[in-house]
This record gives sequence, C-alpha cells and structure tokens, in this order.
Amino acid sequence: MIISTIDELGKYEGQEVTVRGWVYNTRSIGKIWFLIFRDGTGLLQCVVVKAEVDSLTFDLEGTLTQESSVKVTGLVRKEPRATGGYELTVKNITVVQIADEYPISPKEHGTAFLMDNRHLWIRSKKQNAILRVRHQIIKAARDFFDNNGFTLVDSPMFTANAVEGTSNLFEVDYFDRSAYLTQSGQLYGEASAMALGKIYVFGPTFRAEKSKTRRHLTEFWMLEPEIAYCDLDENMDWAEKLVGYIVQQCIGKCKREFEVLERDLSKLEAIVPPFPRITYDEAADILKKAGADFEYGNDLGATDETIIGENFDKPVMIHRWPADVKAFYMKRDPNNNELALGVDMIAPEGFGEIIGGGQREDDYDTLVNRIQHHDLPLKPFKWYLDLRKYGSVPHSGFGLGLERVVAWITGTQHIRECIPFPRTMSRLEP
Ligand code: 4AD
Ligand code: MG
Repeated sequence: MIISTIDELGKYEGQEVTVRGWVYNTRSIGKIWFLIFRDGTGLLQCVVVKAEVDSLTFDLEGTLTQESSVKVTGLVRKEPRATGGYELTVKNITVVQIADEYPISPKEHGTAFLMDNRHLWIRSKKQNAILRVRHQIIKAARDFFDNNGFTLVDSPMFTANAVEGTSNLFEVDYFDRSAYLTQSGQLYGEASAMALGKIYVFGPTFRAEKSKTRRHLTEFWMLEPEIAYCDLDENMDWAEKLVGYIVQQCIGKCKREFEVLERDLSKLEAIVPPFPRITYDEAADILKKAGADFEYGNDLGATDETIIGENFDKPVMIHRWPADVKAFYMKRDPNNNELALGVDMIAPEGFGEIIGGGQREDDYDTLVNRIQHHDLPLKPFKWYLDLRKYGSVPHSGFGLGLERVVAWITGTQHIRECIPFPRTMSRLEP
C-alpha cells in the first residue's frame, strides 16, 4: 500500500494510494459525494461514487463532521480544475475519530475567539500558510549563515544583566537571587565571535512589553549574527544580503502559500540588494517633509517607521543615531561623538523595524563609562568587559526579529498570527 501526502500525489497518478488527514468539508449530489480533505500539506477533493464503494463507506457522508480524522484510499486522477491538480476516486474510507462539533466554522469569527482557539485555528488555510512561510524564513536564514561561514551558537535564557534597557526586563526567582530572561543573545554572541570569528545566535528572547501594539510580543525569536573584524558598513552588507536571500528563497519555495495569502509578489520580487542607506538626519528630514509629529533626537515611533518605509520600495537602513536613544554597547561615530554607529532596517509597506544592530564599543574604558552612564551595575558585565581586555577588535552584528519578518513577507497585519502560540501581555493560553 502506498501512503502519500497531498502535495506528493503527482508522483502516483493512476495508482492507488492512501492519504491520512482530517475532514474539511463534505458535499453531496445524490449518488456521488465529495470529501474535501486536508492533511497539512494541502487540500484534496475525494470523489465517492455509490457504485464503486461498499455501502459502509458510502453511508459515511452524514457521519463525517468537520475535522474528523480519516484515512482515504483511492485512485489518483489528474484534475486541472482541482486545487493541487489532482483528485482521488475513493475506494475506501477508514474513520479514525469522529470529531465533536468543531468550534471554528468557515463563517467570520472575532479575533479574541480565534486567539482563544489558537490550538485549532492553526489548522486553517491561512494560518497554515503563515506557519509554512515562517519555517521557510528560518530555513533560508540558517542556510544563508551556514553557507557563509557562520557557526551557530546558543546563548542562555537566564541572564544576570540587561542588554536592551531595564524598562522591559522579565525578572524571575533564581534560587537565592533573581535572574532576567534574556532580551537578546548579543553579548554572548560577541564573546562567541571572538572565539569563532563569525557566529549567529538563534533563539527566543523576552521583553515585558506593556504596550499592546500589532508589532510587539513578549516572547519573540531573534536571529543575531555577530562578526569579528567588521565595521558598520560591512554589517549593513550582511544585513541586506541576508534579507534579500530570505525573501528570494520564500518566493521560490512558497508559491502555494503566497497564493493562499494573496500576497502581492511583485513587491517582494523587488527585494534585491543593494538596499538604500540613509542617516538618521536624512530620516528626520523625510519625516519633517511628511509633516510627521516627530522631534529630532528621539527614537522613531511606529508611525514614523511607517512613513519612512513607504518612501522606499526596498527595506531601508537608517544608520548613525543620536547615541542617547541607543543601547550602552554601541560604538560612537569617530566623526561625531553624539552619534552611535547603530543601524535599523525598516521594512516597506508599513511593517516597521525588522532589524536593529550596529558596531560595538571595543574600548575597555569607554565601555565602562557607558555602562555607568546608563546606571547599570558593573559586576554582571565583568565577563563582557574581559572581551575588551583580551584581544579586542572592531566588531559588529545585528538582530533580525523573526516575527516582524514573517509579518512583512506574508503580508500579515498583526504579529500575533506570525508565531504558532503568541505571548502578549494578556495572553498565556493556549
Ligand atoms: O532592536 P533590538 O532591540 O536590538 C537588539 O536586541 C540587539 N541586541 C540585536 C543585536 O544587535 N544582536 O531588537 C532587534 C529586533 C527588532 O528590530 C525587531 O525586529 C525585533 O527584534 N523586536 C521585536 N519583535 C517582536 N516583539 C518585540 N517586543 C520586539 N522587540 C524587538
Ligand atoms: Mg531596535
């Protein structure tokens, strides 16, 4: 007996195969009924003809509720009108379980209801497509790094210090002291780059975001390359190459998913390096001309990012930021001590910041001053400061927010649909 998934059926045209999955829908026209069936790889129309099956199988029509699990055996036939291009002429259906009345019907549901049923909602076509594109983005990013001489390094989740400011730290009990959930693997990435040259960290990161926006999660995944002997310009080269590669891989490998998502691919096809690079000052000019409510010297708000992003067809990199709005570890511009050698990449189409990074401070005394200036305790940074004592070199890196990139590439307006089980201020279940 041949067992196949729906996406592989083309290999078995004219043969008898068994597919295993879940009922999506049934539809009867008397002596024939149709079973629309999904298995996670696609949807398949199965045709049940009274004269060709035993009565047990034929009589199942009224019994098979949505999401009942079944195994269907039948003949694979080419059917250009069917999604996927094939159809199954059924010989036999085996029921595994008859599902209770399924709460998610094809009719419209409110978001709160769907989020409460996220464990079931991920079975639906659109959510399924988003999760598949997410997988492809991760695979493409990992292939990119692996093919370019980067070594994957895992950073700890429990840490003793803040990386990205203290306002959104998650503090947890850690035996007789407290620890923080990591906001970024960067500092460990820097140590690892001094050991291995080019590395990347990939894992979950945590921020106690009290804002309820469509761009923030409390737990999100970050891809963080870190490169020894690398300045800000080379760092931007790596960032645009990575993003260009991810997008082009997705276009090549996720055709079916983009169809389901009705994504405008012409917008994605344009995402080829080089990407525009502008300074913070130039970004401020764009905002001023657009009449934005923006004050020079501040960080960009979500609306500002949208305005800037809409000025370009490709992601735009904004570099050289007022040092006061950036993290303690950023190196200052040798030509202007007020500026930090940081870079943010803003996605087009209003999807906002997808990358934050820059060149790191590599001088011991300067870094000590910055830590103190930011009112951070020195003790937990002792090991980090060591890196500036033993063979310090210019180095740079960045963090790509995975869910932000999923949102942009899939054209999904809210980040909560871009991770299998989102964590936000108000959501710990499912
Ligand atoms: O700009 P951020 O805060 O940079 C860092 O954490 C650096 N230490 C990374 C590095 O240089 N290795 O965060 C990086 C990216 C942002 O550009 C954004 O895409 C995403 O992480 N991000 C979030 N995504 C979802 N929810 C949140 N609350 C996020 N905060 C940041
Ligand atoms: Mg940032």
